[in-house]
Amino acid sequence: MTSTLTPDLTTSATGGLTVITHPLVQHKLTIMRKKTTSTAKFRRLAGEIAMLLAYEVTRDMEVVLETIETPLATMQAPVLKGNGIVLISILRAGNGILDGMLRLIPSALVGHIGLYREPKTHVAIEYYFKMPPNMPLHDAIVVDPMLATGHSAVAALDRIKEKKPRSLKYVCLLASPEGIAFVQEHHPDVQIYTAAVDQGLNEKAYIIPGLGDAGDRMFGTL
Ligand code: URA
Repeated sequence: MTSTLTPDLTTSATGGLTVITHPLVQHKLTIMRKKTTSTAKFRRLAGEIAMLLAYEVTRDMEVVLETIETPLATMQAPVLKGNGIVLISILRAGNGILDGMLRLIPSALVGHIGLYREPKTHVAIEYYFKMPPNMPLHDAIVVDPMLATGHSAVAALDRIKEKKPRSLKYVCLLASPEGIAFVQEHHPDVQIYTAAVDQGLNEKAYIIPGLGDAGDRMFGTL
C-alpha cells in the first residue's frame, strides 16, 4: 500500500540534530529496512545513502578563491580550503558508511574505533583505537549506522575528543530518541546527522522499527 508524502525540505535541523529528509535518502532507507532486502543490495544502498549524507555533512566546508584560467578567461573560483577531513568509523558497521563517504571525499584520512556492546549492560567496551596524526588540524566526522542507546557513540566521542580534532560531527543512518538524548547530554557541542529518527528501543536495545542488526545485514553474518 502507498500513500503520498511529499517532504518540503531536504534537511530539517533543530538544535544539534539534522535529519536529512531528502526523498532519495528516504526511499533508499525504506529498501534497507525491508527484511527481504539482500546483503548485496543493503550494502550498496548503505554506500549510496552515505554519499548523500556526506554531501549534507560537508555543506559548511570552507572554500578559498583561486585564480584559474578557463579556455576563455581568467577567474577567481572556489576551491576547498584544505583542512583535512578525518572520517572515523565505529567498527564494524561504520565501515559500510565509510566506503560511500570516501567515494565523495577521497582525500579524507580515516580513523577506526572498535567497540562492542556488553550484551547485558549494553555498555560500550573499546578493543581498538587508531587515529591519523595531527588531529587538531582536522575536522572529524564519526560514522556509525545505528545510534541506539548512544553508549557507543558517547564512548567513541569521549575518546576522539582526547585527540582534540578541530571540529567533530556524528553521522548515522537511523537514530532513536533515547540515543540522541544521551549523546546531546554528554556532547552537546557535537552535531548529529541522521536520515531518520525512529520510535525507540526494544528490550535488547535494537531500534524499532529500525532495520535490524546493521553489521549483520551489511556483512551477511545473520
Ligand atoms: N545496532 C544495530 O545494528 N541495530 C540496532 O537496531 C541497534 C544497534
